[in-house]
Amino acid sequence: MTPAEIETLQAELANRSPRTVLETALNRFERIALSFSGAEDVVLVEMAARIRPGLEVFTLDTGRLHAETYRFIEEVRERFPIRLEVLCPDSAALEAMVREKGLFGFYRDGHQECCGIRKVGPLRRKLATLDAWITGQRRDQNPTRQAVPEVESDPGFASTEHPLVKFNPLANWTSSQVWDYIAACDIPFNALHLKGYASIGCEPCTRPIRPNQHEREGRWWWEDALKKECGLHVGDSKG
Ligand code: ADX
Ligand code: SF4
Repeated sequence: MTPAEIETLQAELANRSPRTVLETALNRFERIALSFSGAEDVVLVEMAARIRPGLEVFTLDTGRLHAETYRFIEEVRERFPIRLEVLCPDSAALEAMVREKGLFGFYRDGHQECCGIRKVGPLRRKLATLDAWITGQRRDQNPTRQAVPEVESDPGFASTEHPLVKFNPLANWTSSQVWDYIAACDIPFNALHLKGYASIGCEPCTRPIRPNQHEREGRWWWEDALKKECGLHVGDSKG
């Protein structure tokens, strides 16, 4: 799709339902996959698997996810008609970083390098095989996500040689809409949500939040709110 076509499509999809955005995405693209983090973005797995059984879904296994998340990912694999791929970091890059910085270097130096190796590298490798991907980003998740559109040319990974379209079907949904849908459709969810976790990422970099705290306050809590992106969604961040 050209940038102009994407802009026209965004005008059509703005504030439309997640199912409409997903249907549009899956009807237009064959080489498309859904990225699933093991959190409440499970709603997209449920919706997309109805539209295209056998859909490709991938999870970036950083090696640092909670035990609950690994168990939940397997529950989702068994429950839905999807082809789930679990992607791992490059072992040489990972070993070199851990040798130099240790297993918790991110508390000292910030999370960018570790996220770069554990998440962004495998994502880049995966995206090179696709024409489009689907994420569970929502505008209500973080100040950095207030401008996330339903569809866009991927601001971080598209290039002239490799155009890449990014769909964010939950962009206009709120957390409570997601949770209503999970309850209404009796969708399984990550057990961490019952332990006070709102947003779920890696174990050392995620913690439960207190009532009235914003969900991203449980992620990379030792860093500034506007730095709470890990490189998967570069350029969606408009501050
Ligand atoms: S993150 O960039 O801060 O880690 P967040 O947890 O809000 O992202 O999730 C937003 C969306 O990014 C998810 O719905 C999913 O599409 C994608 N995503 C995040 N983490 C992963 C992961 N480990 N594997 C696959 N997709 C992920
Ligand atoms: Fe590393 Fe934390 Fe990023 Fe996970 S969230 S990849 S542990 S810095």
